[in-house]
Amino acid sequence: MKNDIKERIEYLTKLINEANYEYYVQANPSLTDQEFDKYLRELEVLEKENPEFDRPTSPTKRVGGEVIDKFKKVRHQIPMLSLPDVFSIEEIEDFNQRIIKENVKPVYVCEYKIDGVSVSLHYENGELVYAATRGDGITGEDITHNVKTIKTIPLTLKEKINIEVRGEIYMSKKVLEQLNKERILNNQPLLQNVRNAAAGSIRQLDSKVAATRKLSCFIYHLPNPEDYGIKTHFEALQFMKKLGFRINEDANQQVRGIQEIETYINQANLVRENLSYEIDGIVIKVNSLNSQKQLGYTSKYPKWAVAYKFPAKEVLTRLQDIIFTVGRTGRITPNAVLEPVLLMGSTVKRATLHNEAYVLMKDLKIGDIVSIRKAGDVIPEVVEAKKERRNGMEREFIMITKCPICGSLLEKKKDQIDHYCMNPSCPARKVESLIHFCSRNAMNIDGLGDEIIEDFYNLGFIKSVKDIYLLYEHKKDLIELEGYGHKSVDNLLTAIENSKLNSLERLLFGLGIGGIGNKTALLIAKTFKSMEKLFNTEYDEFEKIRDIGPILAQNLYDFFHEEAHFKLIQELKTLGLNMKYLGAKEKYNELITGKRFVLTGTLSFMDRESLSSILESYGGKTSSSVSKNVDVVIVGEKAGNKLVKANELGIEIWDEEKIRNIVEQL
Ligand code: IVH
Repeated sequence: MKNDIKERIEYLTKLINEANYEYYVQANPSLTDQEFDKYLRELEVLEKENPEFDRPTSPTKRVGGEVIDKFKKVRHQIPMLSLPDVFSIEEIEDFNQRIIKENVKPVYVCEYKIDGVSVSLHYENGELVYAATRGDGITGEDITHNVKTIKTIPLTLKEKINIEVRGEIYMSKKVLEQLNKERILNNQPLLQNVRNAAAGSIRQLDSKVAATRKLSCFIYHLPNPEDYGIKTHFEALQFMKKLGFRINEDANQQVRGIQEIETYINQANLVRENLSYEIDGIVIKVNSLNSQKQLGYTSKYPKWAVAYKFPAKEVLTRLQDIIFTVGRTGRITPNAVLEPVLLMGSTVKRATLHNEAYVLMKDLKIGDIVSIRKAGDVIPEVVEAKKERRNGMEREFIMITKCPICGSLLEKKKDQIDHYCMNPSCPARKVESLIHFCSRNAMNIDGLGDEIIEDFYNLGFIKSVKDIYLLYEHKKDLIELEGYGHKSVDNLLTAIENSKLNSLERLLFGLGIGGIGNKTALLIAKTFKSMEKLFNTEYDEFEKIRDIGPILAQNLYDFFHEEAHFKLIQELKTLGLNMKYLGAKEKYNELITGKRFVLTGTLSFMDRESLSSILESYGGKTSSSVSKNVDVVIVGEKAGNKLVKANELGIEIWDEEKIRNIVEQL
């Protein structure tokens, strides 16, 4: 009996660890959320009832709970060194020349420099025994209790091996944003950047707190490669990957000489803003481990690697004014009007200040000198006011009490940060909703851009969504408008007509239901298939769906239980709009349908996410890793190891030209 229980516990542990790995490391889950939860609960119960089989590395420990009273000191057997910084291509060239002078082949691995905190992980017999911070490089702190909550760090390896690996624990840009939203609500100071946030999270005494911080980790260093007969750093990365560690496979790349390093940096600069995590530079490491040994170390740094740091993303300018805009939900946003300034290749004149609390938290005054940066994405943000440069002429920020467009009194609900214009007929709200409805990810109506919608609204042609589909009634008036002619009006009316055929998810997204982005809209459309079903769905059914929490479920339920929405949908239906999920089945292409694809490298004509969704809309499947189940590997520029593997397995390879031709003919 006890043996059966022990076996079941081992079976469940393996199953859950594998599912975790598939979900978090490979982004390719094979268990549903429900199945996962069921197994995890079963394991929890078995461990509770049979404490003799409970292990410190059980996947049930990932939720946190362990609390320590102080951090134990840990001495690193091999010091955790940092890297010398370089700031220009010339300095990289100096490094390259030093390498060549030492008779070392200039073959390198380029990696992203992840903006987080480094960690050392120790495994014995394939089990995580402890994890430590870098500290001063010689002595770090034991953070095992928190590390166990990081889902991308394996608790058990795929081999029963003794090993130390090192990597970077980080917080994604999105998680930081979310966390700061909550902190504003709770009147707590904002976390300034992802690094501080990650460092603060990992130094929590209570691992339950760390567990809520949704940290991630990339592994990039194997301190004892010779113990495993490994010859190059790139091989070490693959070795660690095989053991179950998450390496940054999309980024790590073998390069030769300065030219290829430069190309890598340019490429990184292009994709940097779109990454889900922050990088503050590029790490360049000599690939051969023998050569690394030959080059050796200074007291502080290895001589075989450098960190190229990106140029500062921050500049100073003056905050000239704070103005307010009204969104489609009525939300009021204060916006910084800035003295125009060049930042990373574009002139910045405006930056969102999100809400009143944000401005107060940053203590901004009109007239302040402020630093601005392009943080997580291309959108500029105000980092801080340079208070030491105030001269007394600055004006206090005062939140408005009335809608700047319709004049109605603004409302702020309890426990919410934002002020809202509650007037459903507020012209600003109407126009913004219409713009959203026609936008690219929604109904995608070419020719109905922001300004035209505003014009048509003011002219009275389009007052509501329904009017878009009745615009043909104004054809004569439209042709007479300045800048319009028969042809452009015909094109516009055709685009409107064509949009009626869109699959359900576009309409759902376009309706602007609170918190429903285009991805969630697709999920809902896929799950419920028709608009009719949505009007007959209970709260619980919404909440059961992965990625839909109680707030979204409530928003959905409320939206589909409002009489006015029912009426609107009936009208749109009568006007001929499709109300069904068309899905992949609708579209067929013999080169795509039914095949499994892996996308690797950078494509210049389209980003990978968009290409994946096109392939999926034609019934293709996409995976993150190359295996024998994959039919085609699509390779962009700087495709790395996936291309090598595809060649090894004899998998069909499409280059950029081929996929572009196919996509253009769809
Ligand atoms: S290698 C001996 N690789 O940058 C080599 N470090 O300035 C050890 N970092 O302390 C480091 N991404 O915290 C390496 N791909 C990467 C990295 C990386 C981020 C951090 C790490 C290190 C610091 C060096």
